[in-house]
Amino acid sequence: MLVLLQTDYHCVSTAAARIIAAWVRRDPALVLGLATGGTTIGMYRELSRMHREEALDFSKVVTFNLDEYIGLAPDHPHSFHSFMHQNFFSHVNIPPAQIHIPDGSIQTGYEEYCASYEAAIREAGGIDLQVLGIGRDGHIGFNEPSSSLASRTRPKTLSRSTLADNCRDFARGEEMPTAAITMGIGTILEARHIMLIASGKAKAKAVAKAIEGPITASVSASALQLHPDVTFVVDEDAARELSQCDYYRRVMEMTAKLTPKRLW
Ligand code: F6R
Repeated sequence: MLVLLQTDYHCVSTAAARIIAAWVRRDPALVLGLATGGTTIGMYRELSRMHREEALDFSKVVTFNLDEYIGLAPDHPHSFHSFMHQNFFSHVNIPPAQIHIPDGSIQTGYEEYCASYEAAIREAGGIDLQVLGIGRDGHIGFNEPSSSLASRTRPKTLSRSTLADNCRDFARGEEMPTAAITMGIGTILEARHIMLIASGKAKAKAVAKAIEGPITASVSASALQLHPDVTFVVDEDAARELSQCDYYRRVMEMTAKLTPKRLW
């Protein structure tokens, strides 16, 4: 597990974007797992800038998003489809046929639908790099506390903490979805490489539990400790509860000396 400690949100966003860009340059047909959420916006902005100004080419990249609210049509302004189009897809050159986001508007046949989402990932050759955010309750995707560490893509009821956090996106009086279709923890762990980004004090406890806590279904992100190739890109605020924070700081200093051409 690699912890890349960054000064602030801006540095988290540019470091994460540079890592993704390096993967895309190395393998133009990369299968990229994507997340939504406020934390990802700066990263998508930087990737869009790289596409515009540095000719970063996404034309062969295939994407799979982690999740979507149940009950929202893709064109709903608060759907994750809309989020992804506004913040990323409309600024880069990924052909629409290569973009996959769970359809939250289906009303029946969830089991078959979720199995078909998993099959599409497999048919694409599996996810090479999965990008994750983290919820205050330690969720990854929408795998809320008590999710099985072996779970697959399925509908999931949102926790109180997630409802409280995500209601900021909905106008007062507007009904907020209470469930989502999400890739499972088992699905996420099958990605070849995983990068989790986190910023701000509100994430500090969840980040510490994910990196240093026991592996438990109460903190879905703790399952990442089982993965052989995970990078956490976190800022000082999000890292403040890590007991080994000073160690990660020294690792960063050492890495900067040893690898001047590092990605981040
Ligand atoms: C969204 C997702 C969630 C978010 C998490 C953090 O696709 O998978 O796990 O990454 O809720 O969201 P923000 O960044 O808004 O705090």
